[in-house]
Amino acid sequence: MPANKAPTKASPRTSAKTTSPLPPSKDAIALLTADHEEVSQLFAEYEGTRSITNKKALVAKICTALSVHVQIEEEIFYPAIKAALKDELLVPEALVEHTGVKSLIAQLEVIEPDGEMYDAKVKVLSEYVKHHVKEEQTEMFPQAKATSLDMAELGARLATRRDELLTHLAR
Ligand SMILES: [Fe+2]
Ligand SMILES: [Fe+2]
Repeated sequence: MPANKAPTKASPRTSAKTTSPLPPSKDAIALLTADHEEVSQLFAEYEGTRSITNKKALVAKICTALSVHVQIEEEIFYPAIKAALKDELLVPEALVEHTGVKSLIAQLEVIEPDGEMYDAKVKVLSEYVKHHVKEEQTEMFPQAKATSLDMAELGARLATRRDELLTHLAR
């Protein structure tokens, strides 16, 4: 019997990685919108709790999520939007609003959740954030989508930076 079988070439690819693919990363708008939803959910939970322990835990989560969110927007998203839109209005206004958010976060981080001022500060923070998120989602994001910015690439950078900051905060 002729051994006419061509020698099988050992393919270097046969042992190629077969690990399951990473979940598709979110584009920038989807990532930031998901952050907004997460924080809104946490504020809703706060409204529904009377327990001081739960309040403190929820505020810690809110402050972490918001601090990281505003930082990645300021470092990555806003500069990209500002440049792409040649914007002199939306981003500066958003930055002023971030300052208000950060100030309330700083105040909440140093007081105990046992007085009426705590609830008042959380309430005002929630109203601030609601207003700010509405402006981003109804004005800034639609305008951003209309630019030629690569939202997938921007989303990947936001996600990487968010992970870095969360890791740093968890230390
Ligand atoms: Fe923002
Ligand atoms: Fe935002």
